This record gives sequence, C-alpha cells and structure tokens, in this order.
Amino acid sequence: MAASSLHRRFLHASSVLLLLLLLLSLSPQPSIAQQPSFRPKSLILSVTKDPATRQYTTTLLHRTPPVPLTLLLHLGGDSLWVNCDQPYLSSTYRPARCRSALCSLAASTACGDCFSTPRPTPGCNNNTCGIFPYNPITSTSTSGELATDVISLNSTDGSNPGRSVSVPRFLFACAPSFLTRGLTPPSAGVAGLGRTRIALPSQFAAAFSFPRKFAVCLGSSNGVVFFGNGPYNFLPNVQYTSQSLTYTRLLINPVSTAGSSTAGEPSSEYFIPVTGINVGGKPVPNLNSTLLSIDAATGRGGTKISTVDPYTVLESSIYAAVANAFVAAAGNVTRASAVAPFGFCFRTKGLTVTRLGYGVPTVELVMENGRVGLSLFGANTMVQVSDDVACLGFVDGGSSPRTAIVVGGYQLENNLVEFDLAGSRVGFSGLLFGRQTTCANFNFTTSTTAA
Ligand SMILES: *[C@@H]1O[C@H](CO)[C@@H](O)[C@H](O)[C@H]1NC(C)=O
Ligand SMILES: *[C@@H]1O[C@H](CO)[C@@H](O)[C@H](O)[C@H]1NC(C)=O
Ligand SMILES: *[C@@H]1O[C@H](CO)[C@@H](O)[C@H](O)[C@H]1NC(C)=O
Ligand SMILES: *[C@@H]1O[C@H](CO)[C@@H](O)[C@H](O)[C@H]1NC(C)=O
Ligand SMILES: *[C@@H]1O[C@H](CO)[C@@H](O)[C@H](O)[C@H]1NC(C)=O
Repeated sequence: MAASSLHRRFLHASSVLLLLLLLLSLSPQPSIAQQPSFRPKSLILSVTKDPATRQYTTTLLHRTPPVPLTLLLHLGGDSLWVNCDQPYLSSTYRPARCRSALCSLAASTACGDCFSTPRPTPGCNNNTCGIFPYNPITSTSTSGELATDVISLNSTDGSNPGRSVSVPRFLFACAPSFLTRGLTPPSAGVAGLGRTRIALPSQFAAAFSFPRKFAVCLGSSNGVVFFGNGPYNFLPNVQYTSQSLTYTRLLINPVSTAGSSTAGEPSSEYFIPVTGINVGGKPVPNLNSTLLSIDAATGRGGTKISTVDPYTVLESSIYAAVANAFVAAAGNVTRASAVAPFGFCFRTKGLTVTRLGYGVPTVELVMENGRVGLSLFGANTMVQVSDDVACLGFVDGGSSPRTAIVVGGYQLENNLVEFDLAGSRVGFSGLLFGRQTTCANFNFTTSTTAA
C-alpha cells in the first residue's frame, strides 16, 4: 500500500514535470536567451493619440510575469520611468547597486538608502543609485530608484510585426505615483527616446547590436515608432528608406532644462538648425537670429522637436511674423474669431481642399545649409476647430520661452521623422499623404515570416 502510494506520487510528480516541460516548449515566448541565433534588425512600438489630451502613448510588456504598460511617448526624454507605487510584482526586478556599471551608464552619482518601507520593495532598496525621472506634461521631477527588469516588444522586417523579443535587464527608473499626475490614464510612466545612453533607442541598439537610430511616425490616432534600421513600409506598398528622406544636422543643446535628470549635462532633446522660415515660398522677414540660435551659456533659444507639445509653439515675435505672412500669402480668406490656443482662425468656406489638406500657403523650416528641412502643408498647419472654422495650428509661446521654436506633435503627424544618433542627423519624409499613405498605415497584422 505504502509502496503503491509512493509510486503514484512519483508518477504524479513526473507527469506534472512532463506537462511543465511540454508547456514550456509550447509557450510562445521567444527571447534572446532562448534563441541566441535570432537578432532582430529592427523593433516597433505602436503609438496611439488620445483625442482629448493629445498625448501620444505607446505600450510595451514589462516584468515577469509580463504586464502591458502604457507610457507617454517623450521624444526628448532621458529614460524610461514607471510608477512603482502600484503593486509592482516581478521576479526579475533588480535595483542598481551603488557605484555599479549601471549607475555610470545612467550618469547617476546619487547613492542612498530607503527608509519609506520597512522591507526592500521595488522602488525602495538600500544601497541603490537614483536618477530624476521627469514628467514633461507637468514639468515635475523627483528622485527615483534606478533598476532593471525585462521588457518585451515586437521585432519587424519593416512591414509587419515579427517575433516578440526581450531585453532582460532594461534600465529604468522607479517613480512614485504622484509623478504620473497629468498623464492620460492608463499611462503608468514615460518612454524617453532622448539621446542618453539609457533612453530606449540606445538601450535597444546596445541589446541587439543595431545602429542607434529610430524613426517616429505620429498619426492623428495611430502611428508607429521603429528602432534600428529601415526600410519603413506602409500600406499599400509604400517604402521609405534613408534615400527617401531629407536630412538635417542634429544639434546638441549644451545646457539641459533645469529639473530634468540630465541637469548639468547636455540636453537629451533633439535640436535642429533652423535659420529661417518660408511662408508661401517667401522668407518671413526680420526673424530675430539671436532667438534662432542656441545660447551656449544658457541653453536658451533654438529649435527643438517635441512629441509632448501638441502644437508648434513660437516665441511671440516669430509667431506674429509667421502668422502675418501666412494671412498675407493666403490672399482672399475670411478671418474668424480666435479659438484658444490659436490666434488666427479662418472660415473654411473660402478654402480649397487638396490631397495635402487645405490649400493654404506652405510653411517651410529652412536649415543652416539654406535647404528646406520640413515642409508643412495644410494637413499640418490647419486645425479644424468646428464645422466651418479652421485655425493656423501654431501657438504663441510668449516673449521669453526657453526654446524659440518647439515643433509639436500636430506638425509632425503623418511625416516619418528618422533620428540617426550615430550619424547625428535627422531625416524628414515629407507628408506621407503625398504618396497616398499615412502613419496609421503600418500593417500591424502579425506575419509569421517577418523577423
Ligand atoms: C535600510 O537600512 C536601514 C538600516 O541601515 C533599515 O532601517 C531600513 O529598513 C533599510 N531599508 C530597506 C528598504 O531595506
Ligand atoms: C506584437 O504585435 C502584435 C500584433 O500587432 C500585438 O498583438 C502584440 O501585443 C505585440 N507584442 C508586444 C510585445 O508588443
Ligand atoms: C532678439 O532677441 C534677443 C533675445 O530675446 C533680444 O535680446 C533682442 O532685443 C532681440 N532683437 C530684436 C531686434 O528684437
Ligand atoms: C473674395 O472672396 C469672396 C467670398 O468668397 C468673393 O465674394 C470675392 O469676390 C473674393 N475677392 C477676390 C478679390 O477674389
Ligand atoms: C498585412 O499583413 C498581413 C500579414 O503579412 C497580410 O496577410 C495582409 O494581407 C496585409 N494587409 C494588407 C492590406 O496588405
């Protein structure tokens, strides 16, 4: 009797083991560790725009077991940070120990103990280094524990999502829940795509040995971010490669915004050398050139690209000059009352409609080489505010904003913008409508052959 029950227990244990092995071999969790031969050449994240708050968010899998995280997409952000106050359950969470290589990678010199909980918990461990996660919506930062955990996302062949891949020890900051104030629910943090070593582009490039390069394609509701090499393909069969983009040098602002985690170091944001603006093919006269260049001592002035400003913000004198040139070049248009945050609105009745949006004067950003870097047609300059009124989608930033021109999300929509960190350049596709496609036209249907 005893022998038989022992035997049965053994049988039972072995069948559980067998079942486990079977489940493991069937479970669709390809990771780098399990498939050393598989090296993706690029990765993708989907992007969604919240219609009310105009925040662009993305989703990736985090932790073990994996949890889908919605994160604000922050082009200039220096790291990934997530709210660790919500129950954070993960068997793969590891705090970054003081003075470890991870702390140097994050340029963190802050080192400390945590007394806010009696026992170690994600976000609160002793002898760990910290960084300063930053919320760009509320311009707030606080200290947070630097840590690693696994993240997963889809690889791509440029056309479809391919196999899911994981980065087992992805560096990020643990933030207290108050830092998520201002983020559109269910956002649990911020995905920074800035130029630091710990922002997403550099960590992915290091994990998969592909170039430090990424491309953002924001849509009015859906879009995509590619990491690594192109090509970038959109339905129906429209391909963008480095050859089809117009490149401009990326500038480094030597002085970070106060309060960001890169304080005291060069900014992690992307600046471009705009030297002038054309409206309707003609240069806007008398733009203040002091404002257009970055002041090396203070970091003020210049032009940056932003995914957290919903519309382009211009310093007052630039705003007035551009708006007046626009009205003059538009000719016979009927002004309507201003609708905040815009100052220049028009009756749409008199406007023509083209493939590239309302037929209004083109606004062009001219770069240091005298060439046009970014051309904005009606689809990127005119914002429909009611059935019969559309406004010039630029916002007056006041007389002393830190940055003279902040190119915002609406002006980037349906343009593919590639940031080549190694080559220190940014490439613009021009409006995708010109080739009869949109940023929402990346084919997110999984293909079994795409890698
Ligand atoms: C950190 O260490 C101190 C004692 O040195 C202890 O009181 C505290 O509870 C520890 N904190 C954590 C999170 O382990
Ligand atoms: C990969 O892509 C598929 C199809 O779009 C999606 O359902 C899945 O959530 C993605 N996986 C990850 C890890 O993002
Ligand atoms: C240009 O901008 C700078 C910096 O704001 C300002 O000091 C200067 O007076 C401006 N120049 C003109 C001609 O308005
Ligand atoms: C301007 O537009 C109005 C109404 O659309 C029209 O009546 C008028 O003739 C136009 N004027 C010119 C100079 O085109
Ligand atoms: C999207 O990709 C899937 C998988 O490769 C393919 O079956 C489908 O035909 C594609 N959709 C279109 C509209 O081409």
